[in-house]
Amino acid sequence: MKRSVISAAVVGLILAVFLVSIGFSPVSEKSAVAKLEDNIVEQQVQQARGAYLAHIGNCMGCHTGQNGQPYAGGHILETPIGTFITPNITPDQQTGIGLWNEEDFWRALHEGKGRNGDLLYPAFPYTEYTRITREDSNAIFAYLQSLPSIQQQNPPNQIHFPFNFRPLIYIWRALYFEQGIYQPEAGKSDEWNRGAYLVQGLGHCNACHTTRNPLGASQGEILGGGQLMGSNWYAPSLTSLQEASTSDWPIHEIVQLLTVGLSSRAITTGPMAAVVSQSLQHLSKDDAHAMAVYLQSLPKTAPHSRGIAPELTEEVDRQLQHGHKIYETHCQDCHGSFGQGAPGAYPPLAGNRSVTLASPINVIRSILYGGYAPVTASNPRPYGMPPFAHILNDEEIALVLSYIRNAWGNRGSIITSVQVDRSRKGAQ
Ligand code: HEC
Ligand code: HEC
Ligand code: HEC
Repeated sequence: MKRSVISAAVVGLILAVFLVSIGFSPVSEKSAVAKLEDNIVEQQVQQARGAYLAHIGNCMGCHTGQNGQPYAGGHILETPIGTFITPNITPDQQTGIGLWNEEDFWRALHEGKGRNGDLLYPAFPYTEYTRITREDSNAIFAYLQSLPSIQQQNPPNQIHFPFNFRPLIYIWRALYFEQGIYQPEAGKSDEWNRGAYLVQGLGHCNACHTTRNPLGASQGEILGGGQLMGSNWYAPSLTSLQEASTSDWPIHEIVQLLTVGLSSRAITTGPMAAVVSQSLQHLSKDDAHAMAVYLQSLPKTAPHSRGIAPELTEEVDRQLQHGHKIYETHCQDCHGSFGQGAPGAYPPLAGNRSVTLASPINVIRSILYGGYAPVTASNPRPYGMPPFAHILNDEEIALVLSYIRNAWGNRGSIITSVQVDRSRKGAQ
């Protein structure tokens, strides 16, 4: 031990004498080696920043096929205009973006253009990524270029006529695309602006949480809620008090919902659980706080379609009682006799806005196919909801759902077996 310390000191001394003899002075200008080292450190810092930002943008979620290699593309996106198969964005020169430079990459994120100038379809949410700064775009690019190259050919999209004619996107863009980096709002705090930048840009919350017209363009109020393209999921309004506004939540509960996927008031499931586990759980403490501050401040709005609670006729009462029986047999063990749930394990159904949403498509899916809260570092093995598609028929599912939408102070429309049947047939 001692001997090694002495020999290290001797080597150090010899090295110092050598450096002085070649004119090296620690206080003079940096040597070429030191500069190189600085560059490498700078590059690594930029790549690490890019890795973080790529998580928040969930680039991997869309650019990785099922059981495929990360970022090598092949993820299937169903939309009303056809099926997209996402491209390979690893640095492979033939099949990925290995020949791209920072400028090309910026044009893709900011302007929605491919390397050869082709217009990209807005299934790639550049409509939101356009708000990202150049610096953040460069960092994401540096990170992607540092990944292992994976050779995987991009299969062609299967877009229906006439939408398969790319130049048509010109018209779409003229109508719907507003290009531009996020501009901080004067009079708001830095933290609020950071939250807005993340929600409106990289987080692309609007890509799901806003109603889209048949051409896939966001329509109507920002974050006002909408059905996901090509799927049986409704992303609730983040502004409506009846849906998923968090304006009356304390900040720490919003942070918890975003980063763990469950709070005492709500639980994320389906596509939102994927967003939490792939993306939002990686938010830094400061960024999660900033996002929560912004979400809490969103304007409060009236629901854009209020669920019609039933009049309590004798027929309705009979249905609800029947539903109650099914609930006692199949649901009560987990969700409790008062719909109170069990903290951290089973969500409450009483006072749960997801249960009474005007659009019942999410709850119908929950019963048919079950589901999980997201897998996150702080909740690695979430409790699951079993599927009932083979246990209960359409009529029974409609009855139990009508019951939970109208028990314990909940008020929501009656569900019919036709709606359940539609979900079974249209399920993706
Ligand atoms: C909702 C799914 C989705 C997400 C999230 C997404 N992309 Fe994409 N991306 C696509 C689709 C679809 C295309 C192809 C569009 C087309 O064919 O016109 C695409 C195309 C691209 C292209 C052009 C590739 C080429 O070969 O022309 C780049 C670059 C790209 N994405 C980078 C990113 C980055 C970086 C992120 C994260 C910040 C990201 N994408 C997130 C769906 C997505
Ligand atoms: C891929 C589509 C998609 C994206 C992107 C997305 N969401 Fe969601 N979100 C959904 C769906 C679907 C639901 C309904 C399921 C549920 O309640 O978990 C939902 C539910 C929610 C809820 C309500 C949870 C509850 O149960 O009350 C909040 C809050 C939310 N999202 C916030 C966000 C924020 C903030 C972002 C952006 C950082 C975002 N979402 C991005 C699809 C998405
Ligand atoms: C074994 C326990 C268990 C049983 C039995 C069970 N659930 Fe669940 N349920 C869960 C868990 C865990 C979740 C949260 C996971 C998720 O939402 O994906 C959940 C979620 C839900 C949700 C979605 C809540 C939300 O906020 O998104 C509804 C609605 C629901 N259950 C209703 C029912 C009904 C109705 C029954 C009976 C037909 C039932 N559950 C039976 C455990 C259970």
